[in-house]
Amino acid sequence: MDSFELNKITAAVLIALLVAMLACLLGDAVVDPQKPLKNAYVVEVGESSQSSAAEEKSLAPIEPMLAKADPVNGEKVFKKCLACHTAGKGEPHKTGPNLWGIVMNHIGHEADFAYSEALKSKKEQWTYENLNKFLHKPREFAPGTKMTFIGISNDQERADVIAFLRKNADSPVPLP
Ligand code: HEC
Repeated sequence: MDSFELNKITAAVLIALLVAMLACLLGDAVVDPQKPLKNAYVVEVGESSQSSAAEEKSLAPIEPMLAKADPVNGEKVFKKCLACHTAGKGEPHKTGPNLWGIVMNHIGHEADFAYSEALKSKKEQWTYENLNKFLHKPREFAPGTKMTFIGISNDQERADVIAFLRKNADSPVPLP
């Protein structure tokens, strides 16, 4: 192949590229790619109280997940909580209260911790169900809570961490 022929091939390739580029520019100029003003379908994000109530209902019951929950994995999940909580007996509070013996204890169980009104006003217990809801979306279960943690969306992870909390007690509460 002589160099003249090589030049011809190079030129052909360059022209092909140029044509493709021009076609692209021309295409954009001719067809104005207009985006629709509205979404074709609306995705519910659960902002209104109505949809969040619906969502709370759709949270799967915790019992079957607890039955196969793994507290050892729960301890790993608890790493997310370690920034603000301790779980061992007699350990100090951090940003959040110590969580020793939390399962079936009353909400706001540590007398010497300054809880938010959101938790103080709940005269309930940390049942498995309540823990499940709170750890799913803390601010949905207790609007105005000081726990700025986003929540655990994975059902089994939540069950695992609850199983871990259950073990951190003088006499662990029976599983449901
Ligand atoms: C950014 C800090 C932070 C993280 C992370 C965090 N928490 Fe909390 N948590 C708090 C605070 C603060 C409170 C007290 C909330 C209030 O008074 O409203 C609290 C309260 C709680 C309570 C209620 C305690 C009681 O005595 O009634 C439980 C249960 C709990 N957290 C579990 C967890 C678990 C489990 C995790 C990890 C999956 C976690 N938290 C992650 C800060 C945190």
